Amino acid sequence: MSETPAIENLTEAEAAAELPALIAALEAANTAYHTLDAPELSDADYDALKRRLAAIEARFPALARADSPTRKIGAAVAEGFGKVTHEIRMLSLENAFSDEDVADFDLRVKSYLGLPEATPLTYTAEPKIDGLSLSLRYENGRLVQAATRGDGEVGENVTENARTIADIPHEITGAPALLEVRGEVYISHADFAALNARAAQAGDKTFANPRNAAAGSLRQLDARITAARPLKFFAYAWGALSEPLSDSQSGAIARLAALGFQTNPLTRSCRGPGEMLDHYRQIAQLRASLGYDIDGVVYKVDDLALQRRLGFRSTTPRWAIAHKFPAELAWTRLEAIEIQVGRTGALSPVARLSPVTVGGVVVSNATLHNEDYIAGRDAKGGAIRGGRDIRVGDWVQVYRAGDVIPKIADVDLSRRDPAAQPFEFPTLCPVCGSEAIREPGDAVRRCTGGLICPAQAVEKLKHFVSRAAFDIEGLGAKQIEAFYADGWIHEPADIFTLRARFGQGLQQLKNREGWGEKSAQNLFEAIETRRAIGLERLIFALGIRHCGEAAARDVAQHYGSWEAMVAALDLARPAALAQRAADAAEEAERAAALTEGRRPRITETRAAAIAAHGLPAEAAAVWADLGATDGVGPVLALSLSDAFANPEERSAIDRLAAELTILPPPARAASGEIAGLTLVFTGTLERMTRAEAKARAESLGAKVAGSVSAKTDILIAGPGAGSKAKKAAELGIRVIDEDDWIALAGGI
Ligand code: IVH
Repeated sequence: MSETPAIENLTEAEAAAELPALIAALEAANTAYHTLDAPELSDADYDALKRRLAAIEARFPALARADSPTRKIGAAVAEGFGKVTHEIRMLSLENAFSDEDVADFDLRVKSYLGLPEATPLTYTAEPKIDGLSLSLRYENGRLVQAATRGDGEVGENVTENARTIADIPHEITGAPALLEVRGEVYISHADFAALNARAAQAGDKTFANPRNAAAGSLRQLDARITAARPLKFFAYAWGALSEPLSDSQSGAIARLAALGFQTNPLTRSCRGPGEMLDHYRQIAQLRASLGYDIDGVVYKVDDLALQRRLGFRSTTPRWAIAHKFPAELAWTRLEAIEIQVGRTGALSPVARLSPVTVGGVVVSNATLHNEDYIAGRDAKGGAIRGGRDIRVGDWVQVYRAGDVIPKIADVDLSRRDPAAQPFEFPTLCPVCGSEAIREPGDAVRRCTGGLICPAQAVEKLKHFVSRAAFDIEGLGAKQIEAFYADGWIHEPADIFTLRARFGQGLQQLKNREGWGEKSAQNLFEAIETRRAIGLERLIFALGIRHCGEAAARDVAQHYGSWEAMVAALDLARPAALAQRAADAAEEAERAAALTEGRRPRITETRAAAIAAHGLPAEAAAVWADLGATDGVGPVLALSLSDAFANPEERSAIDRLAAELTILPPPARAASGEIAGLTLVFTGTLERMTRAEAKARAESLGAKVAGSVSAKTDILIAGPGAGSKAKKAAELGIRVIDEDDWIALAGGI
């Protein structure tokens, strides 16, 4: 390549003319290397071509193609995968386990849409592939990006790896200008067996099942490894589109097939639950002979206009359901029961089992849920498993369904050693020795040690750095355990003082096993970038009981700032205590009424308990406001209040907050006009059901209230609207009809 002109001397036109040949040469080399396993170029020549292409692209960025070979993961990539924010979230599916669940799904769909129960609806039914989902983005017919699901919002960029999968076309013709094809990457049984045999021969780790093998193969940093693994792909859905693929699910799938994607040949259109269940049984019969793993059947409403109306819950569509195959079972011996202590202090019993294969996976641990479950009781004291308890040494039945942690389903009393003793559940924390207590109504026994308990502290820290929380690159569960054990990090604030405390001690970190100068430096940088954190992430990261991601978002939205939230929680504390007293009084009253054979006087009892607290009106008002916040019920409100009132926890929280810059929550995704407004629906809606209207309004960022008040912004009044319409008129509130509402909501 010595006669090629230097990049500095190239005109843009010359560069544009040179690019296609460069790209073609690199692509041919890639194919020879990855797919044919027969390299044509030396590494040095390959690198020289790639460097030239990169230099041209750097000089003339407008010429750089999104799918340029320079954007490929090279042979040895040091960093992890890039992140891809899905334009449209990748969702999971609700599960059905029985015929009744499927019939119920059909009824719920119709009720949501306001259709009579007798209307037959058409659904597609297709195998649920047990692999991992992948989103492929095509722009103008070219594959430009492939991303894993990740947490549904942000996935990993695995474009180069996806390109090595034969079922995934690099170019398609006749497709919308923008098309995201979604489907499942999987590996066949035969290929899985061969892969494991090769791994075993080479002394490498083998995979537990085909799904792990597919995931492990796709998520390789070196695309050449992926290329050597025989992955396959079925398309079954789509994400962002510049124009619709069809007006039906079945039509869209047919279109994907016509574009060159593999679609599952067992996909059928079914009218109503009867035909859906027939197809389910047919697929179940074929399951063993398919040659790849499936774990159920997915039903989807066929009409895409109806799918759109049905929309989504927080993580699943209302228009689809996965009918799972029954769980797989096996018998084995229970060797021991161990107690693990979790983030919230929960003592969780874990069964250590004699290893046994359940549905192709070797299982040696299973959950035993809680002490009642071991004793053969349910939460209300009723019998489960016919009241049979579980003892160490027993023969137990293990079952697993899909992803979930294996469970102990049953025990064989005929094989019980007569000397076996009932299991005594500890009342002291096995890790820190603090008392472990059960709150009334809680099935779980919890360690009272709080942050003093190393198990709780470590689990809280792991949660703190987890993906949906602080997500600090290079600081995962493993590192947290090591740092905690070494006394470097005891509480979240310590993460942010690490660098200062280890000023010269960077040396120490550097000298630790697995840490070099670069990775230590990277860790400190990753920590610094997280010092500015969104309020909702921070609330979630605190690991407060009952406060999941959605609740944290709701609380953050409600208060808007950390200071406002903390001030409100402090102000409302007396009311929280009054509520706890009222809850206790109510429980006592219920018990007393039961023994005395009379009706419990709940309202009076609670009122008396609250009155005894002499509550300041302001506390009561702030508390009521928190309890009335969307997504926050009394249980979460109490849990939040407790966390901020506990002196040790609070000082740890304050120390953390002092280290951070807390950013206000993002404005709720909203289509301008009705975001942030409070709506009330009244009268009959004719074009959408109430449930649909409420869900739609909320998805547009509005609140839906049950009654008209001064806070109401718009009343949507259908025919038959009565007192609410009157009240709205009195208060001067805007009243609109259903057609106006639908226009406001952007159509049906
Ligand atoms: S539809 C919006 N169809 O199952 C719903 N999913 O448990 C999009 N899966 O995340 C999913 N086979 O990874 C759909 N035929 C199929 C499927 C399927 C497997 C996976 C997918 C999804 C998971 C939910």
